[in-house]
Amino acid sequence: MSKIILTGDRPTGKLHVGHYVGSLKRRVELQNSGGFDKIFIMIADAQALTDNADNPEKVRQNIIEVALDYLAVGLDPAKSTLFIQSQISELTELSFYYMNLVTVSRLQRNPTVKSEIQMRNFETSIPVGFFTYPISQAADITAFKATTVPVGEDQEPMIEQTREIVRKFNSVYGETLVEPDILLPDNAACLRLPGTDGKAKMSKSLGNCIYLSEEPDEIKKKVMSMFTDPNHLRVEDPGQVEGNPVFIYLDAFARDEHFAEFAPDYANLQEMKDHYSRGGLGDVKVKRFLNEVIQAELEPIRKRRKEFQKDIPYVYEVLRKGSEVAEAVAAQTLSDVKNAMKINYFDDKELIAMQSAKYEEMED
Ligand code: TRP
Repeated sequence: MSKIILTGDRPTGKLHVGHYVGSLKRRVELQNSGGFDKIFIMIADAQALTDNADNPEKVRQNIIEVALDYLAVGLDPAKSTLFIQSQISELTELSFYYMNLVTVSRLQRNPTVKSEIQMRNFETSIPVGFFTYPISQAADITAFKATTVPVGEDQEPMIEQTREIVRKFNSVYGETLVEPDILLPDNAACLRLPGTDGKAKMSKSLGNCIYLSEEPDEIKKKVMSMFTDPNHLRVEDPGQVEGNPVFIYLDAFARDEHFAEFAPDYANLQEMKDHYSRGGLGDVKVKRFLNEVIQAELEPIRKRRKEFQKDIPYVYEVLRKGSEVAEAVAAQTLSDVKNAMKINYFDDKELIAMQSAKYEEMED
């Protein structure tokens, strides 16, 4: 069976380092590994509209930002199909049929939907489109017969919901759809990078993100004012490494060669952590090191982004071509689905012959 990746992001803002370690970096590695037959990367604008219906301009403006971030991190249109969800009308059609296979109570139990409803203060006025977006996400994944979905931990319930829909569809209508596997980051720190303020998640509305396109002085400002161990008051005090955002970021970003370059007193992160835990290592020093590490990681990304920024029409052209390729694939799946569901009236010669025979019999 071919190995196919589908994944994507909502275009509600620029992408940040949480996206990067949680998924983008992995996608590029997978892309360059050559281990996959096809890779589809989707800008999920239709999904973004499910809770931004009154602000289409925000979604529209952010398509190019996300596309630039994709190209900047190294997603390569020659190897990966980059496309825009709303341009593939087959996806909404698939969603409509999958809706018959999911109960309202199952959606209500989806932990991600539950917490998002709370976060957005929807209370009782939940848009139906938002409530059902896990079904549309199942359409996104299955339309491309994806076997592998590299995403962050928060997307786990979505993939589980997709797998249930696939099993239900196949058992009712016959083997048609492919059950995907989630691919989570293997580094625990990358699973859910906290915000610079130590809050559980990076989020634009909390102002605790470091964006991929951020300028160096801005990155430095954010790193130097990061939340750390609040009880580590004096340099000689023992510090707490666990749960300390600065060390979580180092877990996510620092490699041994960074120590050789920027902190030669330590061979690796463990030595630095030990020193911090013992006492005698100040937060400012650790933050300066983290700043160097993040700067080193983001500099090539920012430079590449600036190159692509010089040719915006090219970026839209990449998305247009990608959307064309994606649509052809989704159309094939939709046709398979309609055949399986027996809603293929006009290309089913047998059906027409059978109905003719039935009425001929009645005539006799
Ligand atoms: N829900 C994802 C997010 O919040 C975006 C998304 C939409 C997605 N459809 C998908 C991710 C299909 C993986 C597969 O970023």
